[in-house]
This record gives sequence, C-alpha cells and structure tokens, in this order.
Amino acid sequence: MVGLLGDNGAGKSTLIKIITGYHQPDEGEIFCNGQKIDHLSVPKARELGIETVYQERALAELQSLWRNIFIGRELSNSLGFLKVKEMQAQTEQLMLESMGFTSTAVSPESTIKTFSGGEKQGVAIVRALFFDAEIIVLDEPTMGLSLKETRKLINFVRGIKEAGKSAIFIDHNIFHVYSVADRVVVLDRGRVAGEFMTSAISLNDLMDKMYRVAETGSFD
Ligand SMILES: Nc1ncnc2c1ncn2[C@@H]1O[C@H](COP(=O)(O)OP(=O)(O)O)[C@@H](O)[C@H]1O
Ligand SMILES: [Mg+2]
Repeated sequence: MVGLLGDNGAGKSTLIKIITGYHQPDEGEIFCNGQKIDHLSVPKARELGIETVYQERALAELQSLWRNIFIGRELSNSLGFLKVKEMQAQTEQLMLESMGFTSTAVSPESTIKTFSGGEKQGVAIVRALFFDAEIIVLDEPTMGLSLKETRKLINFVRGIKEAGKSAIFIDHNIFHVYSVADRVVVLDRGRVAGEFMTSAISLNDLMDKMYRVAETGSFD
C-alpha cells in the first residue's frame, strides 16, 4: 500500500490519471511489474489490473448489492441462466470475509441506494477485489464522508492489503494515509519530493517534512 501525499495542486490526481491511462505524461517512463509500458491507455491500464475507486463511482443505485458486484460479469450456467444463488452467496462471503461488513442490515439483496457513502465506497472496493484488480487506486475516497463512515472506509482500505493486493491511497488527511500505507510518496508541484517507509518515520517527522516541502520545495 503506497500513500500519495502532497499539498493541493501537488499533482496527485494528475499522476493517477496518468497511471490509469486518461492522460499521457510529457516525460518519464511507466513500469508495471518491472515491464516498461509505452502509451498507457485506459483499456491497457484495465488489462494490467489497475482499478480506480472514485466517489460512489458507477454503482447502479436502484439495483441490489449482488447485482452491483457482478455487473458486466454475471455468472451463468451452460444454458445461459444466471446463477443467482451462487452470485448472492459469493457476495455475502465477500462482504463478510473480505471486507468485514458487519451490519446485519446489509444483505446481498439490499439496494445500493440504502447504503451510506462509506458503504458505497466499500462496495466499489469489494468489486475491484472481485474483479482481480492488481492495483486499486483510491483518490480521496473519504471526501464527503462522515467521521464514522470514514473509519469504516479506512477499514475497507485495510481489507485490500489483507487480500494481498496493492493499492495507491490518496487522502487529504495525512493521519489516514500514515495509518494504512507501508510507503508514502510525497509530491510537490508535479515532482516526487521524496518517499518514506512509514515504519521508518514517525508521523510527526513526516508532517514536519511535508510542511517544509510545501514551503521551500525541499526537505532540508
Ligand atoms: N507534472 C505536472 N506537470 C505539469 N502540470 C501538472 C503536473 N502535475 C500536476 N499538474 C497540474 O497541477 C494542477 C493540480 O494538480 P492535481 O493533480 O489536481 O493536484 P492534487 O490532486 O495533488 O491536488 C492541475 O492543473 C494539473 O494539470
Ligand atoms: Mg486531487
């Protein structure tokens, strides 16, 4: 889990748009699993298993939870009939085991529009996990969430790590990023100012360095 940090306008979202193929970089090279990638496009990024979780992105509000998880990838038998029971069972398992959804009010049959903002984000994460995403990108997923929802969401983000997947996590709140990321990369005005293993730097020192970078453009 990599955390991307940096002041507003540092270029975090822009970097994400490059990684997901929406923008082409003016300079630099992109490597994925040690392999150089030329002309990364949106379909290519998806092929590489890069999934983005945006604010309540692309969930069908009026559909059930299990339909949302399997949208575009429904399980069917050889006659083309949907395996509804199996999809519901897998959804239940994903929600409880992978993501630690505990609310008894949430079942595979629940309609998405009854979910809180945090739960919707959780569904998007579960879906990315289910779709075998290799790298899950979260650009400020806590934006607009209440404190309680935010805490829940941070737990979902931890779930990504526990599922053995990689993630890039951006949040305006450095506490969130520090508490889940193994490594943080600090951006400043479109450049990498530095990176740190969270195990090797205290939160205070990291905050200190970020202030210094924002003021002077360097860590020293
Ligand atoms: N490497 C870069 N080179 C040129 N412009 C950049 C670069 N990175 C970011 N920008 C510009 O800076 C502005 C803010 O970037 P953004 O990615 O939204 O920042 P953040 O998400 O960190 O707040 C955008 O207008 C973007 O086009
Ligand atoms: Mg941004």
